[in-house]
Amino acid sequence: MAALDGVVPAPARTQDRSAERPLEQPLPARFANTADTDPSLPANRGWGRLALQRARDSRIGLELLEASRIDDAGELDAVLRSAAEAGAAWGARRGAERAQILHRAGQMLAARRFDLIEVMAAEAGKTIDQADPEVSEATDFAHYYAEQARGLDAVDGAAFEPARLTLVTPPWNFPVAIPAGSTLAALAAGSAVVLKPAGPASRCGAVLAQALWDAGVPREVLRFVQVGEEELGRELVTHPTVDRVILTGSYETAELFRSFRPDLPLLAETSGKNAIVVTGSADLDLAVRDVIASAFGHAGQKCSAASLVVLVGPVRRSARFLRQLEDGVRSLTVGWPDDPRTQMGPIIEPAAGKLAHALTSLERGEHWLVQPRQLDGQGRLWSPGVRMNVKAGSPFHQTEYFGPVLGVMTADTLTEALELQNGVAYGLTAGLHSLDPEEIGHWLDTVEAGNVYVNRGITGAIVRRQPFGGWKRSSVGPGTKAGGPSYLMGLGSWRRREATM
Ligand code: ALA
Repeated sequence: MAALDGVVPAPARTQDRSAERPLEQPLPARFANTADTDPSLPANRGWGRLALQRARDSRIGLELLEASRIDDAGELDAVLRSAAEAGAAWGARRGAERAQILHRAGQMLAARRFDLIEVMAAEAGKTIDQADPEVSEATDFAHYYAEQARGLDAVDGAAFEPARLTLVTPPWNFPVAIPAGSTLAALAAGSAVVLKPAGPASRCGAVLAQALWDAGVPREVLRFVQVGEEELGRELVTHPTVDRVILTGSYETAELFRSFRPDLPLLAETSGKNAIVVTGSADLDLAVRDVIASAFGHAGQKCSAASLVVLVGPVRRSARFLRQLEDGVRSLTVGWPDDPRTQMGPIIEPAAGKLAHALTSLERGEHWLVQPRQLDGQGRLWSPGVRMNVKAGSPFHQTEYFGPVLGVMTADTLTEALELQNGVAYGLTAGLHSLDPEEIGHWLDTVEAGNVYVNRGITGAIVRRQPFGGWKRSSVGPGTKAGGPSYLMGLGSWRRREATM
């Protein structure tokens, strides 16, 4: 692979990072989050530009993807049965042994940062500021879950019995970090994995799977399969060997899986309709910056993205806040990832359905502060939009759109703002901008979301520091959070060890 054979220089570092180390070098004694590539160093900007240029005609991952295609139920059955068998042996290994392989996987992912960025830009249109942190997160998952795997050995009188086979069905919006996290968690717990990548970002899954195999994860324990969802999706989910499914996707997909198999043991991270509340005591400059980054990073295609901002009390009529928001949004440069000027990239597929509607039409009483415009003639490049006067209970208040459009709502009090923020079916992320400790305390006690952030953007949860997972219709299953201390517990169960005489 390019990052290992010396053709592509490693990024320059401002601090010690695993990508610089040869793979066999020891790891730090304690878990530490991986730093992103520092873009302030000119050498790194050149390195990043090279990855994005290569993305233009990139074929990376294609060969493996083609070799992984399964078209008939008989072949799928054989793959799943052999993976489940391998899972039994993998789960019988000591957690410490699995941990060693997972640490190596973390080092391999860091070493392949360049390839991973290239394939994310090629397939998912990710700009470098969005793609680079995904590699750091994937690396973090490997090292963090490796340490958790060790913990599974350390309990007297009880043994952890993992699922034998876990099906991982990730989304296309975080096409490396999320499949990496789900796959590595299941492997750490002692389960074999069948990874079925999301259709629009399947080469990302292929490059990831290759890195994990090259790090020593046995091929029979991690199977990478490309199946048509219409043709074989139901077979995959309902196959008797599959005893856990990790899904990251829409609430509707979780319901569909459950309709296939009502007793399905599902760990699903699902939709969100997330708001940031800004009160009169907020640092408005900071709030504008965080709202824009949370709403338009990766063109708003994050389950964690801010889709609404709720202005409270005096901020409702703050010409300064709205002018800054408008200026900030208008000044975002939209383009393809290989153009160094690009700040916001394309959406994954031409806008259609609900998203096309949200980008082009208003409800009664709403107006555009910034009107989105179609820029490429193909429906993928949109300038960002901000709609004003979104009303409680209206479609824009309630619906997840997954695109570059933000709605502005207003409230007289923080309590009213919380009613708007909580008044949706989902509860994934939520934000508050306030410098008043009483407001912050009240908000923290009342807000209904899994990941809550004060005076910070609401995307980009960091492994271990901010375990990620939602409430209400943002989560289906045990509710354990990815990148947190209990996630592996959803992937098996503890049994008392019988004393033998
Ligand atoms: N974990 C991702 C985030 O926090 C979804 O943005």
